[in-house]
Amino acid sequence: PRSIWLSRHGESEFNLLGKIGGDADISSRGEAYARALPDLVRSSAGDLKLTIWTSTLKRTVQTARFLKYDKLEWKALDEIDSGICDCLTYQEIEDQFPEDFKARDEDKYNYRYRGGESYRDVVIRLEPIIMEIERSENIMIVTHQAVLRCIYAYFMNVPQDQSPWMVVPLHTLIKLTPKAYSTHEERFPANI
Ligand code: F6P
Repeated sequence: PRSIWLSRHGESEFNLLGKIGGDADISSRGEAYARALPDLVRSSAGDLKLTIWTSTLKRTVQTARFLKYDKLEWKALDEIDSGICDCLTYQEIEDQFPEDFKARDEDKYNYRYRGGESYRDVVIRLEPIIMEIERSENIMIVTHQAVLRCIYAYFMNVPQDQSPWMVVPLHTLIKLTPKAYSTHEERFPANI
């Protein structure tokens, strides 16, 4: 592929509450990001005809909805499944499931939420997506923090077990251009 565009969804109501997982709507600030996204994309993609891939969750679909390109929803792009911890804050997890909280802190890549997934699981379920990106051109992916970290690490040639620590802020469009020996990266923060 020539370049790949990556973005997290706009801020969600759950982001505001500090809750993980779930299927919340975007907040009014997230909505402002969704509205700013077409111009942000045009400034780095020009007239290229992109194809937008989102997850099946409302916050990514809502974020992409003003982009006038073909769109595809992938279940494999849904956020890491946090199992019994879904819809809790990190504080609530620490209070209700202290052992899980500690285990995740000690090995964030391998820790699998009870009834859910680990980063390692996410990396594996992303394999078909990565293969599809590799043989496509002009793909823009609107997805979630953990998923984006794994995709980002892959294209930046960072070992997969470092994925949990990749920095992928909200409201920032990332453009990756793979070259022969490295990947060129540009970041475009939205002015919202
Ligand atoms: O808080 C937003 C979020 O996307 C959660 O839904 C998800 O569980 C979390 O980020 C992943 O980040 P971390 O692996 O650092 O908990």
